[in-house]
Amino acid sequence: MGQITLQGVQKSFGPVHIIKGADLDIADGSFVVFVGPSGCGKTTLLRLIAGLEDVTGGAILIDGKNVVDTPPAKRGLSMVFQSYALYPHMSVRGNIGFGLKMAGLPKDEINRKVEAAAATLNLTPYLDRKPRELSGGQRQRVAIGRAIVREPKGFLFDEPLSNLDAALRVQMRIEVTRLQKQLGTTAIYVTHDQVEAMTMADKIVVLNAGKIEQYGSPLELYERPANLFVAGFIGSPKMNFVTGELAQQQGATTIGVRPEHLKIERDGAGGWQGTISVAEHLGSDTFLYVDAGPLGMLTARYIGELSLHAGDRVSLVPDPARIHRFDTSGNAIRN
Ligand SMILES: Nc1ncnc2c1ncn2[C@@H]1O[C@H](COP(=O)(O)OP(=O)(O)O)[C@@H](O)[C@H]1O
Ligand SMILES: [Mg+2]
Repeated sequence: MGQITLQGVQKSFGPVHIIKGADLDIADGSFVVFVGPSGCGKTTLLRLIAGLEDVTGGAILIDGKNVVDTPPAKRGLSMVFQSYALYPHMSVRGNIGFGLKMAGLPKDEINRKVEAAAATLNLTPYLDRKPRELSGGQRQRVAIGRAIVREPKGFLFDEPLSNLDAALRVQMRIEVTRLQKQLGTTAIYVTHDQVEAMTMADKIVVLNAGKIEQYGSPLELYERPANLFVAGFIGSPKMNFVTGELAQQQGATTIGVRPEHLKIERDGAGGWQGTISVAEHLGSDTFLYVDAGPLGMLTARYIGELSLHAGDRVSLVPDPARIHRFDTSGNAIRN
């Protein structure tokens, strides 16, 4: 079991209030991603769950038991860091088995567990190598192997793929997701990358300045963002926001439309008129950055190639069913 619940969790460093009351229910076996801009408190919240920091207030429950006074080693959680923190003089076998050796397990049991983890992670041919003889992706797999053999109730990942190049990140992202599903172990995964969050998570926690802005599935956040922050953070390119009279006509202070929900018309008289400032042709997509005068710069996305260029006039027609409305406080208006 590995059900993790946060109840009013607070954390201050001296006079600075960092985590401002976090409430969260993480179901056993689920993959939850904490996402938010740098400095919003993701690592702090993860370290509080791990027990590497003490809470200032509130409760952390693992399988129903409050663990705020339980030392990290007794919480049954395994952490994987961005810096792999491998022992350079030890082999892959030694690194993966180190925690089990310290715990005093018999040698043949350690070997059995290490070899099973290595097989799962495609590390079997590398068991006798030293970390310096491995690629970045292989080193990160060793760090994950070390977490797996402890058979934890939950994995805690803190930006584990940030040191890898873009192509390897995508590959490892898929491997980590597949592995978590295979093991069925609860995982909390911290990243600042909303694409990683959208692709890996069963549920996403969007954090901003120490507060949980929204907790929901990737598609819930995409389709029904609770406020301007989530609307602007989830989705790439970003949602367009328009204020003023156009918003007021819809009974809102701000309206938002995603780039993929603007229909691009060459000579249209309706919609939002503007001049293309930059056109990006990716083959798979065309991104247009359109100067729409009083409405500001708008981004439109077309799936496929569209033969339009800087200086061309276009009109952008929002899909009425996909317009998001926000009030003066920035909260979504639901009808
Ligand atoms: N030990 C500490 N002492 C004082 N301030 C800290 C400490 N750890 C983190 N902070 C502050 O808490 C805030 C959140 O940090 P962190 O949790 O590392 O953010 P993130 O992981 O989202 O980038 C930052 O403003 C950071 O400077
Ligand atoms: Mg961090």
